[in-house]
Parts: sequence; structure tokens; C-alpha cells
Amino acid sequence: MELEEIKKKIKEVSEKAEKQLGEIGEEEPEKLERWKVEYLGRKGEINNLFALLPHLASEERKEAGMLINNLKNSLTNVYEERKYTTVKKEKSKVNLSFPGKTPVTGSFHPITLISREISTIFTKMGFGIVTGPEIETDYYNFDALNIPAEHPSKDVWDTFYLSEKEKVLLRTHTSPVQIRVMEKIRPPFRVIAIGKCFRRDDIDATHSPVFHQIEGLMVDKGINFSHLKGVLTYFITEMFGKDVKVKFTPSFFPFTEPSAEVSMSCNICKGKGCPTCHNTGYIEILGCGMVHPQVFRNVGYDTDEFTGFAFGMGIERLAIIKFGITDIRYFFQNDLRVIKQFS
Ligand code: PHE
Repeated sequence: MELEEIKKKIKEVSEKAEKQLGEIGEEEPEKLERWKVEYLGRKGEINNLFALLPHLASEERKEAGMLINNLKNSLTNVYEERKYTTVKKEKSKVNLSFPGKTPVTGSFHPITLISREISTIFTKMGFGIVTGPEIETDYYNFDALNIPAEHPSKDVWDTFYLSEKEKVLLRTHTSPVQIRVMEKIRPPFRVIAIGKCFRRDDIDATHSPVFHQIEGLMVDKGINFSHLKGVLTYFITEMFGKDVKVKFTPSFFPFTEPSAEVSMSCNICKGKGCPTCHNTGYIEILGCGMVHPQVFRNVGYDTDEFTGFAFGMGIERLAIIKFGITDIRYFFQNDLRVIKQFS
């Protein structure tokens, strides 16, 4: 093939490209892309021209190569320019008077909402908020709380041990936070701790292996059972309303003496009797008592000087009563139809 012939072809391609480009409107970005493929694409006109080069003698090849390259560069440049104006045109089509898209927002989980409400009530009574680890040693979870070695809750069937040898476990209640606080500070103080607890329970409507508790502890000179009663009764009426009846029943916990269970009149049936309250009209909501002297001795407090009370309750249980949710599993299934109702 002759050099002149190739030059002619280059000119043809150049003219054709220019003409076609001239026919593409400013609002036709797809056509512009097709044009680019036709000329600058891998199997496009420019590469077809390059493919002719081997037919030429070396000097001529150089000259023709340069011409094709120039054409390629100029087509690339016009393409880039046109692309800019075409896109710009597209952009200017945006109608700014359209209403905006509402951003998707989340809402708080009912357990978070209840936890915050509880914290607010206790903070008003001067309680500080503390936290403790979810992974505990058996000393903090059991021994320091005066729970004897043979206690069933220490059984591997009841507790998740991470290492039985080193006695590391997932805490079964928030009470170990009591010990951690008392090891660090001296009375007087009043604190609450909120967090996850773990027990080897099979999942059903009222049990879950992961759940939340709130723990309370108040220690000072002269603290007695009336203080405990006053604080808890205030909390329950703040949370559930003034009409709720509160009942203290004797109970047992190794770390409190005396101990009590607290029940409130069922606010689902208003005390008449229903499945949630097992037809008793009352729902048990928490355990409490005066801190056992042995617990004070374990943290080096003088039992002649100080007394205190402690309480612990399950947050899911409170949420169930407050929101009338009948199954604890709803809290963990991530079903948006349930979760979205709380915000
Ligand atoms: N830790 C006890 C439980 O999980 C509740 C409790 C806390 C009882 C503090 C008395 C005092 O059942």
C-alpha cells in the first residue's frame, strides 16, 4: 500500500468523524459514546488505520504513524470537550423545585429506650452510672458475692464458661459490678449499672440466653430497708404510673440479707388476672435486699460503719410490661415491623 493512499484514508476518517460529531446533539450523551467507540475504540477506525502501517516502508511508516497519532489525539480532545458539555447539559436538567428525598433514619431499640428511661429516673435520685465487663472471673460473678461453690448457678449447665480452668465466664448478672465499684471507691455513694448478662437458658417466650439487667447499689452510714423501699417504689411509680401497686415479698439471695422480691400490679390486666401475670394480678420485676455483711468484708468495708442496699432487675421484663410485648424473642429477631414502632 502506498503512503498517499493511507494519507487519503486518514483524511477520510478525519472528515467523517468530524461530520458525525457535528450531528450529535448536546443532549445525546449515548450517541457521543457510540461515536467514541466507532473511532477511538479497540476495533475503531483509528486502530484500523494503525493496522495498515506494516504495509509501508519504514520511512513512510513513521510519517503515516505520526499523522494517525495526531488524528487520534485531536479526536480524543474533541471527545473530552464534548463529553463535558453534554454532561453539563444533562445536569442542568435537574429540577431544583422537586421535593427532596426523605433520608432513611433509624429509631432506637426498645431496650435502649427503656434503659435510658430507667437511667433518667435514677439519675434524678442522685445515682451515678457505672459499667463493668461482660466477661468476668468466677471471683467477681460468684465468690465475692458470697455465692457458695456448690450453688447451682455455678454449674456448667447454667453459666457460659470461656475457660473453665482459668474460671473466666460470661457474667450471669450485673451484681459483679457491685464488687468492682466497692473495690475502687469508699462510701457514701449510689450507682446503677446497666448491661448484658448471659445464662444457658433455652430460648422461649420468656427466656433468652442473652438479656439485660440493671443493678443498683447504695452504701452509706445508716442506710436501712426503708431507703430501699422508698427508692424502688418511687422508681416503679415513675416508670409505670401512680396507680401501680408495689409488693415486697421475702426472698433469698446469698449477697443480700434480708432479701426481697418486688412485684407490681399487672398493668396488662390491671390486676384482674391474665396469662402474663399467671392470673395472680402481680408481676415479679426485681430482686433486692440489704448488702450482706460478708460482701462488705470481701471488699474491705467496715460492717459496723456502713450499710447499704442493692437491687437487680431484667430490662426485657420491664419492656415487656411497659410496651405490652408478649414474647421476649421480638427484642432480638431484628424484625423491623416490631422495632420500627419505637422511636
Ligand atoms: N443478681 C440477682 C439476679 O440476677 C438480682 C439481685 C441483685 C438481687 C441485687 C439482690 C440484689 O437474680
